[in-house]
Amino acid sequence: MSDTVNEIKQRLDIVDLIGEYVKLNPAGANFKALCPFHNEKTPSFIVSPEKQVWHCFGCAKGGDHFTFVQQMEGVEFPEALRMLATRTGVRLEYRDPEEHNYKTRLLDLCRHVAERWHSLLLNDPAAQAARDYLKQRQLSRETIEEFCLGYAPDSWDDAIKFLQGKSFTLKEIFDAGISITRLDQSGQAGDKGKPYDRFRHRLIFPIRDVHGNIVGFTARKLREEDTGGKYVNSPQTSIYNKSQVLYNLSLAKAEIKRLGYAILVEGNMDVLAVYQAGTKNVVAVSGTALTGEQIKLMGRYAQNVMVAFDADVAGVTANLRGIDLLWQAGFNVKVIKLFGAKDPDELIRKNPEDWKKAIREAKNFMDYVFSVTLEPLDLKRVDHKKLAAKKLLPLLAKLGDAVERAHYLKKLAEILSVPEETLAKAILKFEEKKPSLKKTETPPITIEPGRAVAEHLLALLIKFPKELELVMQRLKPEMIGFSPAKLLYSQLIIYYNKDRHLAEKEVLAALNAESADYFNQLGLLIDETAFNDTPDLLHHEIIQATGRLKELYLKGRLKELSVSLALAEKQKNETEVTSLTEEISRFNSQLGEL
Ligand code: UTP
Ligand code: MN
Repeated sequence: MSDTVNEIKQRLDIVDLIGEYVKLNPAGANFKALCPFHNEKTPSFIVSPEKQVWHCFGCAKGGDHFTFVQQMEGVEFPEALRMLATRTGVRLEYRDPEEHNYKTRLLDLCRHVAERWHSLLLNDPAAQAARDYLKQRQLSRETIEEFCLGYAPDSWDDAIKFLQGKSFTLKEIFDAGISITRLDQSGQAGDKGKPYDRFRHRLIFPIRDVHGNIVGFTARKLREEDTGGKYVNSPQTSIYNKSQVLYNLSLAKAEIKRLGYAILVEGNMDVLAVYQAGTKNVVAVSGTALTGEQIKLMGRYAQNVMVAFDADVAGVTANLRGIDLLWQAGFNVKVIKLFGAKDPDELIRKNPEDWKKAIREAKNFMDYVFSVTLEPLDLKRVDHKKLAAKKLLPLLAKLGDAVERAHYLKKLAEILSVPEETLAKAILKFEEKKPSLKKTETPPITIEPGRAVAEHLLALLIKFPKELELVMQRLKPEMIGFSPAKLLYSQLIIYYNKDRHLAEKEVLAALNAESADYFNQLGLLIDETAFNDTPDLLHHEIIQATGRLKELYLKGRLKELSVSLALAEKQKNETEVTSLTEEISRFNSQLGEL
């Protein structure tokens, strides 16, 4: 987006743009006018050609091209963007209006068919089996309604007929993933390929995007003996990108934000059970490995994740289902241990208290992996020691954080009673084999650690500038690793020290162009997350983010220092070793204080 924004700004001088609406008079390096946004006799509305911003000293409004058009035309950012794109001839790849309209049609279609299936589930005699099934799974009426569960009847064309009755075309029905067309030998939809309903005699779970739009469905069979998979899913469509959707994020996001962590489970049924048990900060990956995009999405709401996967999955197999990506992105990961149950749903049905207890007792991921791996082994036996090292070292090699890794390496050395150096050497073998061998469909996105946190914090500060004073005392700019964020943060501090009065528009006018852009983008970020937290919660959230950034910074420094220390030790440079050791312990104690 920012490329488009920048290109528009480059093509259109703000003086020309504003000059179309108000009469501008030169005043030194700037232009002055009577403010179009409030009533005044002497001009206090300034446009700066150098900074490409506007500001009114009378009513404290100000901003860039986009905010001007927004205020002048009374439109939101996307509309302003469209208007300015048209005006400057900049193409908006991602918002071809025709495509946009088509997507809106498909979303409407999904909503309509979801409502039909939902009302069939609640009222239709033919849905008795589905209602019985839900009863057996102990799902309440409230849960069924909140998740808009449905029943797709035992018919080849019920959905198609219903949607055609709502004047949707066969193409739209197909493109939304509701129908299937039998393909001929060449893989084309042949003439004989009459479309039919994808979901038949199944329990329907609508899948929503983060905004709450229904974009697809997953459907469970009701009788074990039915053909087809246990779940049948919508295909990837132009409105449903599977790698970007987390089941239930739209309902869970506010609670995830409030509590500061998300619970990640594997199944839709698990989400429903967990949600119904009162833990509403739950999302699911729907049976696939977590993607970088999903992680990024989750990072908008929390930096802590508790994973409640099938016991054997989260365990020690090489298949971590993307949990390793979570660490790499800087999340704190814990594992909820499901004693005596195969998934959270089963645990809750046995005893809801056990679930609450399992959450309270969640273990750090690595500690969990250690205990699961070592439990069945007899560590007095050499072959078992070798086995333990073989299983755990490759995982430790993946730990991005050097301090954390050193911690676990030491722990493993103690448990196996072998010298730490031996393990340190052995682990190198795994480090060289980096993922290149792994065949993943979409390459994992690497997310700069701390970027999401920093941007979230800045976005909050933009909306709640009063909190800056407090944050300033705790967080120095150099502690922010992502440079645009660092730059903006230091400019905010400079401005605050000068003025102590932080009206959003004034701050914006004082920023340099690059930071002003960024500031605007971050402002959007917070609008998008649209939460209604109380001041207390916001305050808490700001403190949390500040602490997290400091933690990331300290850990990063410690990592660098430990590298230097190793070098100094190798060179037998004793003064250096002493001073580095001191520095490390200073940072360590700061970390401890957090
Ligand atoms: P599970 O088999 O663990 O399902 O698959 P579950 O949620 O516990 O279902 P119940 O309790 O047996 O009813 C986990 C997830 O994997 C996906 C679904 O999203 C499911 O929720 N899955 C599973 C499929 O897509 N297709 C399948 O055939 C099975
Ligand atoms: Mn289950």
